[in-house]
Amino acid sequence: MKLYINKASPFARKARILAREAGIADRIEEIDTVVSPVTMNETLARENPLIKIPALVTDSGETFYDSPVICEYLDTLHQKAKFFPEPGPRRFAALRWQALTDGMMDAAVLSRYEMAVRPEALRWKDWIEGQKRKVFGGLHVLESEVGSWGDEFGIAQIGTACALGYLDFRFADWGWRSGHPKLTGWFERVSRRQSVAATLPPQA
Ligand code: BEZ
Repeated sequence: MKLYINKASPFARKARILAREAGIADRIEEIDTVVSPVTMNETLARENPLIKIPALVTDSGETFYDSPVICEYLDTLHQKAKFFPEPGPRRFAALRWQALTDGMMDAAVLSRYEMAVRPEALRWKDWIEGQKRKVFGGLHVLESEVGSWGDEFGIAQIGTACALGYLDFRFADWGWRSGHPKLTGWFERVSRRQSVAATLPPQA
């Protein structure tokens, strides 16, 4: 299989962590791909019309996107405990956490593009503040719910690790740990996992 990634992408990191946790990383060739909202990557465009990473090309030549679909597909390829719960209340809880953390990453990546890609004269401070509010709204919910997770490390926890890792990587100055002591402690513990440590974004 081929997985189009960028090591800075928190969405690609979800699939990279899950593959390592599931013991199937050796079946996946990671293809480092440069993406930008303004310069289109034509190689990626042939696989994913949305020109976004991650995109997974399976051994039979199908292409899957985006990260929730790829992660769920990868979860069918191994015999360990599943990262997506069976249909029922636990599954909906996990999918909601995945949606929450994907939304936080969306807001953070959009803010990053606004600050790093958009010409300075066109940057819109209120728009960035709106995105930041979404990130902090998510942090507030996670802080009140992280205590229910115990040692579980499924798709909800993978998404959370990727969202928090991206905030550390691009928005250290936002100081997400302040006011979120439970989440801080949880993140410190999961950061020691081999899959999480091995997929850290590149230090600039
Ligand atoms: C980043 O550089 O922050 C980034 C790169 C690819 C996808 C998302 C974010």
